[in-house]
Amino acid sequence: MTPGFSDVFGGRPDVVWHAPGRVNLIGEHTDYNDGFVLPWALPLGVTAALRRNDSGVLRMVSRQHGGPGGAVVEVAVAGLEPGSVDGWAGYPAGVVWRLREAGLLAGQGFDLVVDGDVPAGAGLSSSAALECAVVRAIDDVLGLGLSGPEAAAHARGAENEFVGVPSGVMDQMASLMCAEGSVLFLDTRSMATRQVPLDLDTGDGGGLTLLLVDTNAPHQLVDGEYADRQRACARAARALGVAALRDIPPAGLDAALARLDEALARLDAAAGTGPGADADVVRRRVRHVVTENARVLDVVGLLDAGRPGEIGPLLTDSHVSLRDDFEVTVPELDTAVEAALGAGALGARMTGGGFGGSVVILARSADAAAVTDTVAAAFAARGFAPPRPVPATPSAGAHRISGG
Ligand code: GLA
Repeated sequence: MTPGFSDVFGGRPDVVWHAPGRVNLIGEHTDYNDGFVLPWALPLGVTAALRRNDSGVLRMVSRQHGGPGGAVVEVAVAGLEPGSVDGWAGYPAGVVWRLREAGLLAGQGFDLVVDGDVPAGAGLSSSAALECAVVRAIDDVLGLGLSGPEAAAHARGAENEFVGVPSGVMDQMASLMCAEGSVLFLDTRSMATRQVPLDLDTGDGGGLTLLLVDTNAPHQLVDGEYADRQRACARAARALGVAALRDIPPAGLDAALARLDEALARLDAAAGTGPGADADVVRRRVRHVVTENARVLDVVGLLDAGRPGEIGPLLTDSHVSLRDDFEVTVPELDTAVEAALGAGALGARMTGGGFGGSVVILARSADAAAVTDTVAAAFAARGFAPPRPVPATPSAGAHRISGG
């Protein structure tokens, strides 16, 4: 497929790559704490049709934003600087900027048409899909031979440094590395990955399904809340004398929390900033991260043992922790989870960064319709915009569609 490329630029792209959005089964707000995550790739994603040019100009069109035939965003690769390209085009421009900064470009430019179907603002990583489709297309065209973690680092760098949106590395690793039929068990410290088959029809899992529902509550990572959580976690790790909260084992949690007040006070005194008034908040942030990492390992253990039907309570515990300790849920997310559980779901939780976005629900297949109907009814009763079911079959990570 060459999505409108010839209409805009004439001729054919050198390559076409597809990269998916992702949903995270469990392991939320752990990736910037060197922890564990367990995402899978959606059957929705972004397609990047790309051709190298030797004019040093990056020309970009999005079928969702006025193209083809619509506005071509055109920038000189040599002139790219963080913040210099706004809107959707900042993501591909950011990837090109990162590759240029890494010394991987030698005056090339690119003609690019992107086409996507990941709902934006649903917490399903439409931006990572865009970055990853572009980084893989360029990698392919230039023969860079980037490994998955290298490609993910460039894609994440585009988002963090060029666009200015903070995030961990989960979304990009998921988009690049997930495999069909599996969840990706990722250790964000070592970047070690393992595909864990998500077999919901065998073992004790006969007749289970994972539902994904977009709450349609606006989701916004740039509003400072996400960065605030990152700062709190980094501050706690520094106070406790560990490289990252990942280094606190569940068995050491109580002891760590017991000395946190004093450790924070010492940190503040050393920095000359006076006592922070946030010890209780920081304590809850730490508790979420430490318990969430443990829940990821427990879920992986159950999936490995062929017992997917038992992961439900861990999913729900994760939601409660994100609601009460990490404070990143909103009423739409809590309502969806409560309604799903009330209709017999085995477990449910928000997925992604929070502050809006989507929920993932484990249910018996026979109950799936009742669960989604109950969520919709609960939203109507509270006057929320209607929730939207999203197709969620575990799909392939980034792959070439044509060319090369
Ligand atoms: C966002 C970020 C990810 C991760 C999640 C929370 O999706 O992009 O890196 O931190 O939030 O788990």
